Parts: sequence; C-alpha cells; structure tokens
Amino acid sequence: MTDKINSWNETTWVSPSNIALIKYWGKHGEQLPNNPSLSLTLKNSVTKTQLRYRKLEKPVSDSEDLKVAYWFDGKRNEAFERKVIIYLGRLHTEMPYLQNYELEFRSANTFPHSTGIASSASSMSAIALCLVDMEQQLGLRKPPTQDVFRRASFLARLGSGSACRSVYGGWVTWGEDGLLPESSDRYASPLEQTVPEQWQNLRDAILIVNSDRKKVSSSAGHGLMSNHPFAEGRYRQARKHLNCMMLALQNSDEKTFIEVVENEALTLHSLLMTSSEDGLLLQPDSINIINAVRAFREKTGLMVCFTLDAGPNVHLLYLEEDKETVQQFIQEELLSFCENNQWIDDQVGEGPYKVEN
Ligand code: PMV
Repeated sequence: MTDKINSWNETTWVSPSNIALIKYWGKHGEQLPNNPSLSLTLKNSVTKTQLRYRKLEKPVSDSEDLKVAYWFDGKRNEAFERKVIIYLGRLHTEMPYLQNYELEFRSANTFPHSTGIASSASSMSAIALCLVDMEQQLGLRKPPTQDVFRRASFLARLGSGSACRSVYGGWVTWGEDGLLPESSDRYASPLEQTVPEQWQNLRDAILIVNSDRKKVSSSAGHGLMSNHPFAEGRYRQARKHLNCMMLALQNSDEKTFIEVVENEALTLHSLLMTSSEDGLLLQPDSINIINAVRAFREKTGLMVCFTLDAGPNVHLLYLEEDKETVQQFIQEELLSFCENNQWIDDQVGEGPYKVEN
C-alpha cells in the first residue's frame, strides 16, 4: 500500500445497529460496563461509512487538532465531527499515528434519520472498522484475521459502549461473566452458547412511536447510575437474567426468554424514570403497544415479545415462521399507535462487511 504524501487511500464498511436483550446500563472507567449484556445484531438498520485518508506533509502536534472532516448524507456534519475528533483523541495511545493523517469520513444510514433510532452503535462501529482497516492497509499493525474484529470491537467501545457488540453478527455478548468463558469488559464476543435454530434469525419490528431525539443522552443516563439507590441490585439482576437466558437457550424455553426480555426492557425504563425528570421516555402509545403485544401473545400463544431502547419506540421480536401473522397484527392493531404509521422491518443479521471497490 502506498503511503505517499498527497495520495488518498480509502476503505468502506457497512455496520449494523443492535438491540440489547440484556441491557448495558451503568459504566465505569473507560467505558467499561458494570454488568454483562447480550444483544442481537440487526440486518437492515445499518450505517455505511467511507474513510479516505492521506499522509500530511507535517503531522499535527496535538490530538485536539486532528485533521478530520465528517460528512453525513452528503453534507458536512460539524456537530458529529466534533464528537469524532474527541473520540479519535481518546484513541491516541492506541493509534498515535492518526496525527500524521488527514481523515475524511462520508457516512449514511439506511434507516430514516427522523425515526429517533439511536445510530451511535452502527456509526461508531463503522468508524472503528474503517480505522482498523486503515492500520492494516498501512501495515501499522498486523493482527491475525479474527483479531481484526476484536480490535474493532475494542476501539468501537471507546466511542459508544453498545457499538462494540455491532462488529459481530447474530447473538453477541459484552462484559465479563463466569458463564461466558471468552467474555471481556474490553470487547464483545459472539455468543458461544448454541441458539435454538428458530431463534437464530429472530425478526424485529421497530415501531416508531415518536421520532424526536431522546431527552436523556446515554452518557448522562449511564452517569446517573453511579448514585442510583437500585444500582447494585440491578447489576446482580442482569447477571441473574444472563444465567436464566443461557438456560432458556439450552432448553428452547420460550416462556423464560419472554420474561427475561420484557423484564430487562422495563427495568431499563424503571431506572431511567427514577434517575431524573427527563427519564420518563415511555409515551402512552408505547404502553398501548406493550398491552396489545401481551394480549396478542395471550390470544395466539405465539412467541412474540417487546423490548425497548432508551426511548419511546418499541421493538417487537418474533419468529420468522410467524412473519405473516405477526405482520398482519402490526398492520391492523399496532400501526395506529405509530407516528405517521412508521415502522422498520428488521431481523437478526450477519454483522458488518467491507465494501470492495
Ligand atoms: O452505547 P450507549 O452508551 O449509547 O448505551 C446504550 C445503552 C442501551 O442501548 C440503553 C442498552 C444497550 O445495552 O444497548
């Protein structure tokens, strides 16, 4: 690979968002989680990011002065650019050579910008994958192939905790736990436990109740956990839920799966609501959807359940084999609770990939 001054090189990655079944909420140190989490990597909600880089004639002397431009949907996005510069500054010990380069990111999401869907997991993981590929192209670091993703996960974590899980497809864990021999607080790993076949490609209907940007930023939310009276109990509960989920996977136990997933979602919101006035993020239509999903499950006996991110939108999880029935239910009974009838039809995906020229 040429590394001449003035010649541009590039790498482009597509990286997905993920939805946590066992939530990461509360952190310490350098974005280290206070409990293990488990997520599903999505297929259709993705960010595509191109990184172009070229060597500077004269390196910048400080990581605050890094030469970075960030374009989103064809327009320069200075607010996100500042975040990226802070993030890259944080990578200084890992990637000191970034000061020798001019970096241009061009990024776009597949999911509509106006849906309030958090894009930090897909955007930060896409940036991290581009950076790891850049150092590979330049021969600055040569990890064996499997370590490329581990390193990308490690770097993505420093941008947004949940982003570290997006570098792998399928079911992914992050955070040390005795039940997960390969687990680490520093990077995510694909779940080792075998997942029942019908659960491997679960579908996720993201029901858009409100597309406004959320009031609580996740860093503020994580911060509020440090003085939360329920914090220690919550971290114990997350480990217990992980244990129950591992048993549910072994036994294809739908009931336990549903109980854990819904309890995790409501626990996250209980913590949010009791952390600050801005933490009441659920809206009447979020509750209407939850009630309708529970009534539909009761009536049909199908494996359907809801989960939530730190916002009012509801993720409805269901099996591929029930797609027709569930999508009819969405059309007939849930869309009236969605803003402008909006929903995103998604499912578990295979993880990020590099776009070859
Ligand atoms: O990655 P962050 O710092 O945006 O935190 C995300 C936390 C949740 O999305 C609420 C839960 C999770 O585990 O993804």
